[in-house]
Amino acid sequence: MLRCCTVRCGIRDSASPRQRSFLLTSQWYPEIVIQMDRATKRMEPWKIAVIVVSVIVALALIIGLITYFLCHDQDRYYNASFLITSVNYDPQYERQTTEEFRHLSQEIETMLSAVFKGSFLSKRYIRSHVVSLSPEPGGVLANVVLVFKFASTDSEETSWGHINRVLHRRLQTSSTFLNVDQSTISLTELNKEKGDNLLNNCCGIRRQTFSFAGVERIIGGQRARDGEWPWQASIQLDGIHRCGASVISNMWLVTAAHCFRGLRNPRRWTASFGVLLRPPKQKKLVQRIIVHERYSDFVLDHEYDIALVELASAIEFTSDVHSVCLPEASHVFPENTSCFVTGWGALKNDGRSVNELRQAEVKIISTATCNRRQVYGGAISPGMLCAGYLEGQVDACQGDSGGPLVQANSRGIWYLVGIVSWGDECGKANKPGVYVRVTYYRNWINSKTGL
Ligand code: ARG
Repeated sequence: MLRCCTVRCGIRDSASPRQRSFLLTSQWYPEIVIQMDRATKRMEPWKIAVIVVSVIVALALIIGLITYFLCHDQDRYYNASFLITSVNYDPQYERQTTEEFRHLSQEIETMLSAVFKGSFLSKRYIRSHVVSLSPEPGGVLANVVLVFKFASTDSEETSWGHINRVLHRRLQTSSTFLNVDQSTISLTELNKEKGDNLLNNCCGIRRQTFSFAGVERIIGGQRARDGEWPWQASIQLDGIHRCGASVISNMWLVTAAHCFRGLRNPRRWTASFGVLLRPPKQKKLVQRIIVHERYSDFVLDHEYDIALVELASAIEFTSDVHSVCLPEASHVFPENTSCFVTGWGALKNDGRSVNELRQAEVKIISTATCNRRQVYGGAISPGMLCAGYLEGQVDACQGDSGGPLVQANSRGIWYLVGIVSWGDECGKANKPGVYVRVTYYRNWINSKTGL
């Protein structure tokens, strides 16, 4: 302070006004320098610690990012085919949704899973999925997509070599009744796009695994995640969500007939896909609406509450948007088994639709139970199916109509069991949700769409 004062005093008389203003602003300089000097000499230990820690964190981040980009795991897809000599070809193998196809595919997938899980590739193996079974002299030719997770540093040739070796060594010695002709095994790597395409074109496949956290309701339940219910569609009148629907092929949706009550002009309707209504993943115009010819807008018995929607252009199938499987007409979904219903419907009776897709786990209730006097007293016909809980609470609601009720089979493939149709309010005790029984209309769907 003293020195400063001296300087200041020294300039006062001899300097010009401009020089003076410059000197006046710089006159505190020496003191600042002194203070900084002291500060660096006496840097507090916590400051040093903070600086050291930040440097370490920054270094760790940089190293982490470098290793992530160099060595993170990536999915690799392969197409494996081989001849099974112990099985005779059955024409039912032509369709992926027949019991026969499901049965043999499951055997093959279990065998492949055992082969890879019991090998040094056990940590790399993710899944196998039979995409076709074709007739071949001497047996059935199986075409399978294999998915593995390799580090990006593993070269493609090495990974292919490892898989090929395991297939050749172990496929023939595996302990099932399937007999594989080793000389027919062929393995090709597929690029991500081709692998994705092959799997996305199979119905009812969910690409990631999702775990369920307890019992959920559409009413107040947990929201669905991207790709969890890829077959769920929203059908919209003048751009506003009206009903749910299910994707059954890239051109066709199935929904409830009552969604179109008095409004059958396809030009006013659009369909959107993806878990959010706004913004959707894809949007399509509607070309044609086929309401069941025996459905009536005026008779309120909810019979024949089924409709098909043909799109104006094909959906582009992705991991987040693709079809659900239709069950065979003869398939029986046993009572008390678990299903999921999904939709953007109201969270309470007479409530509004929501923007994020929701899901609820419900159980199939037998028609005998559902027709009891205190439940629906005989209103449930053979074309309908009840699902939910007699104690209420978990249910679909308004705005969920037309949407899917689905169940996974033992291969983890999802089938359309029902279509949300009606109910007495939502979630009331003894008033479970009533659905269109898809197996009952399976042949009708086939007659209109060829599916
Ligand atoms: N009809 C209703 C709709 O248009 C769906 C009713 C479903 N009700 C139920 N409680 N499960 O959206």
